[in-house]
Amino acid sequence: MSLLTGMFWRYATKKYNPSKQISDEQLDHLLTAVQLAPSSYGLQPYRFITVENPAKLEQISHAAFGQPQITTASKILVIAVETNIGETTVKNYIDKAAAVRNTERANLEAREEFVNSRLSLLSPEQKIEWAEKQAFLAIGVLISAAAEAGIDASPMEGFDPHQVDKILELEDHHLKSSLLFALGYRSEEDEFAAIPKVRKTKEELFLTV
Ligand SMILES: Cc1cc2nc3c(=O)[nH]c(=O)nc-3n(C[C@H](O)[C@H](O)[C@H](O)COP(=O)(O)O)c2cc1C
Repeated sequence: MSLLTGMFWRYATKKYNPSKQISDEQLDHLLTAVQLAPSSYGLQPYRFITVENPAKLEQISHAAFGQPQITTASKILVIAVETNIGETTVKNYIDKAAAVRNTERANLEAREEFVNSRLSLLSPEQKIEWAEKQAFLAIGVLISAAAEAGIDASPMEGFDPHQVDKILELEDHHLKSSLLFALGYRSEEDEFAAIPKVRKTKEELFLTV
């Protein structure tokens, strides 16, 4: 469907039909859109983790206060941000850019210095906030791609991130959970599907100066 038709069709699904699964190809399609999402300096300081382990899903369900999306959806993703952003992050990006663009690393070193100088102005907490902004942009792309593909989705901030970090041992990987994300197909019993959208009017939302 067109993006706009999909945006009217989609809603934050609360209850999924557990017998309807999304295929690996469909998940790959959505994750390709995430892969292509833009990010500041191109650093993509996040990971999208698909959780398949049933024991971990059960624990995540508790950490998300039993929200029914976790136990009924086809796929559960944890979106995590990097907590160790620094010169190595930038170095890895510049190394990759030199290889992908088939150019001498020296041609990109002014860029490397610039990005490092900008990031060095941020405290560790501010770097995490910055990484979360980048992750949320990619999450917006995921929401749009799912809507366009006719796949239901639920972003979820209602969970205890400390518990999820522990369940997935994210600290050991220099990661911190920011959002849970469910994908699948809506249950016919989900009354939220029929509830009209509450949105600001265009006058409230947009301004021309
Ligand atoms: C970042 C984010 C976090 C959200 N967290 C939750 C959540 O934990 N539980 C829930 O039921 N809905 C959650 N929602 C859904 C919103 O309440 C919903 O998107 C909003 O009310 C607009 O409704 P709609 O998406 O159905 O059009 C979240 C949405 C976003 C974008």
